[in-house]
Amino acid sequence: MNQDFTVTPWDVSGKIDYTKLIQDFGTEAIDNDLLDRWKRVTGELPMALRRRVFFSHRDLKWLLDRYEAGEKFVLYTGRGPSGHTHLGHLMPWMFTKYLQDKFDVPLYFQMTDDEKYLFKPELTLKEAVSYTYENTLDVIALGFDPRKTRIFSDLEYSKTLYRIAVEVSKRITFSTAKAVFGFDNSTNVGMIFITSMQSAPAFLPSVEAGKNIPVLIPHAIDQDPHFRVARDIAPKLGYYKPAAIHCTFLPGLGGSDKMSASKPESTIYTVDDPKIARKKILSAFTGGQASIEEQKKLGGVPGVCAVFQYYYYLFEMDQELLDRRERKCMGGEIMCGECKQELADRVARFLERHQEKREKARDRVQDFIVSDYSAAYDKLRRPQEGKEVAKLKRTMKEYCSVKDADRISIRKTREL
Ligand code: TYM
Repeated sequence: MNQDFTVTPWDVSGKIDYTKLIQDFGTEAIDNDLLDRWKRVTGELPMALRRRVFFSHRDLKWLLDRYEAGEKFVLYTGRGPSGHTHLGHLMPWMFTKYLQDKFDVPLYFQMTDDEKYLFKPELTLKEAVSYTYENTLDVIALGFDPRKTRIFSDLEYSKTLYRIAVEVSKRITFSTAKAVFGFDNSTNVGMIFITSMQSAPAFLPSVEAGKNIPVLIPHAIDQDPHFRVARDIAPKLGYYKPAAIHCTFLPGLGGSDKMSASKPESTIYTVDDPKIARKKILSAFTGGQASIEEQKKLGGVPGVCAVFQYYYYLFEMDQELLDRRERKCMGGEIMCGECKQELADRVARFLERHQEKREKARDRVQDFIVSDYSAAYDKLRRPQEGKEVAKLKRTMKEYCSVKDADRISIRKTREL
């Protein structure tokens, strides 16, 4: 790994060289040929690909081959609920939503509450569970299709996931885990197992279907080590290797390379009061000069400006307008204050709308969440009349059985 930056699933720091990262991790760059192919297959090229926000992949060409051969795939992504969602997390999820709509495919969304409890010394299990709920609201607010989306927490879905995780864990040695994740003697044993839990949903669609189902995992590049391991052991278990598509990191407002919950002043959370978010943006790091005179004379440097990055990643999807903003900045025609104000307006509007949808999501959680402790399971534990018990048992049997091969059905607890 390069000396100047670190990218692991738990630590991202330094000035990230994404080209070097592709070499270090052994992934493939998304090149023009692949973009052309994407366009041929889907009829368009979304901005996230055009701008190389999604810049790297594993086996995406293979996935498109399978898709063109008529095999539907399943999307899988997730969140480690250690706090509120920030705008950076939304990037891979928004792209996942785009993929769900475009390819009309199911999504499995994992909440690794166990992982965050094990990793964060100060986080209690109760807090991790409550953030699972809070983060779920953000996922639902993005507009995923409830008929095709299954959200689950490791703690609540462990009976389903554990059978796969245990098979995975038998094939990963401690030596591999140390080499890939940098574990040492002070690492708690839970953390060593956790990559097996994160691999499990990549194989769950195949287990349920009783035949191999291609899986595509959109995520930022920091999570790649988990799926490198999952891909290594997949053939040993008879599964397809999961394919992945990787995004770069939305930077922090302070100019760091990754928006991170450990720096709340330079991080915009989806639950932030729009007024607070506005203040954070107004004190963001920019590529501006020390004075207005110098800015007019020398122009700004959008390449190092956090504000410009926010337009680039999320808040200016019109390429011509983005190019114009860049030209005006470099030519000293626009001052940082104006640029920040405009961004603050856009972010505040986004937050207001997102928060409205987030509130409405509270009534829809049951449409998305699946759990081993389903409503039927709970009812079964209470005294019922004989007929009712028989019906519930039948439904439970169906719920737990291997699903029909050609129909990847998303069962909801509410249906039970
Ligand atoms: P977590 O909670 O750290 O992050 C959730 C997702 O957001 C991505 N991400 C970012 N993307 C862009 N800019 C940023 N600044 C930024 N920060 C985080 C992460 O790469 C991730 O895609 N262990 C995982 C949870 C998980 C998961 C998965 C993630 C379980 N299964 C499958 C991806 C795919 C975690 O703690 O993610």
